[in-house]
Amino acid sequence: MRAIIPVAGIGTRLRPHTHTIPKALVQVAGKPILGHILDEIIPLGIRDVVLVTGYMGGRVKSYVGEAYRDLNVCYVDQEERLGLGHAIYLTRECVENGPTLIVLGDTVVTADFSSLVGGERTLIGVKEVDEPQLFGVVEVEGGMVKSLVEKPDVPPSNLAIVGLYYIVNTPLLYEALTDIVEGDVRTKGEYQLTDALKLMLERGEVMGTFSVEGWHDCGRPDTLLETNRFLLDRSGGNGSDIPGSVVVPPVSIDPSATIERSVIGPHVSIAAGATILDSVVRNSILNAKAHVEKSLLDNSLIGEGAVVHGHFRRLNVGDSSEIEIGG
Ligand code: UTP
Repeated sequence: MRAIIPVAGIGTRLRPHTHTIPKALVQVAGKPILGHILDEIIPLGIRDVVLVTGYMGGRVKSYVGEAYRDLNVCYVDQEERLGLGHAIYLTRECVENGPTLIVLGDTVVTADFSSLVGGERTLIGVKEVDEPQLFGVVEVEGGMVKSLVEKPDVPPSNLAIVGLYYIVNTPLLYEALTDIVEGDVRTKGEYQLTDALKLMLERGEVMGTFSVEGWHDCGRPDTLLETNRFLLDRSGGNGSDIPGSVVVPPVSIDPSATIERSVIGPHVSIAAGATILDSVVRNSILNAKAHVEKSLLDNSLIGEGAVVHGHFRRLNVGDSSEIEIGG
C-alpha cells in the first residue's frame, strides 16, 4: 500500500506563518504537521509515499528528504491549486494498481489504522460533527455509503468526511478523476475528490466508512494550538529540567533551544534554535529561531525568526494601593 499526501495548498488561513513556510511544515508539538502525519502512517508498513507539492514545494522536499531518508517518495508538482480532486488526479503517473491511502496534509487523524490496512473494501474516514454543512458529508445505509456531498445546505447525516481515504479500486479512482478534470466538472469552483468518489459509487464501487477517534485540524491558528495541546497530552512531551527555569509539562523543547530564567508550559512547543529569556510562556508554539524576552505569552504562535520583546515595569506604589497591570 502507498499513501498520497497533498500538501500543495497556500494555507491562507494560517497567515502570516504561511508567508514564509508551507503549511505542512508549520510546527506543532515538536515537529512539522507533515512529520506527525508520516509518523502515523509509517508503522502501517507504508514505504511508498506520493507528495503533491506546490506552494513552497522545495522546502517540503528538503524536509522529507532529510528527515525521512528511508521513504520512497514520488513528488508531483501542482502548479495551479485547482482543488483536492485535481491534486490527486496529477498523481496518476506515480501510482500503480493496489490499495492507496489518501491523507490530507493539514490534518492529524488518530484512529486504529491497523483495521484499515489490507481491507478489501474502499473506506471513507468519518467523524460525527455538530455542523455537517461545513464539511463533505456521507449518507450511510445498511453500513454502506449511499451518497457523498460536499458542504451540503441540507446535510443527509452528521458524518463528516475527515480527509482520510482508503481506496481499493485505484484504477477506478483515476478514471473518475480524469472524467471530472477533463470534463471540467467543478463544485464551488474546484475539482473535488468528493465528486470523484461519488462517480466511483455510481460506477459500482462499494464503500464503507471508517470512524476516526480524533480529527485534529491544523489549518487555523486556534485549531493548530488545540492540536498542539492534544498531541502534547498524548505523547507527554519531552520536558526536561532546565537549570534556572521551571518546566510545567507537557512541553516539547528542542535541545538546541536556549531557555533562561523562565517558566515554560504547559502545552508549549519550542523549535530548534529558539530563545526564551525572563519570560512565562504557556499554551504556545515557537517556531525555529524565534526569540522571546521579558514577555508573558499565552495562546500564541511565534513564527520562524520572529522577535518578541517585552519590558519589566518600574513601579513606586504606596501602601494599600490597588493596581491592575496590562490587559
Ligand atoms: P485546504 O482546503 O485546507 O487548502 O486543503 P489550503 O490551501 O491548504 O489552506 P487555506 O484554505 O488556503 O487556508 C486541504 C489539503 O489539501 C491540499 C492542501 O495542501 C491541504 O493539505 N490541497 C488542496 C492541495 O494539495 N491542492 C489543492 O488544489 C487543494
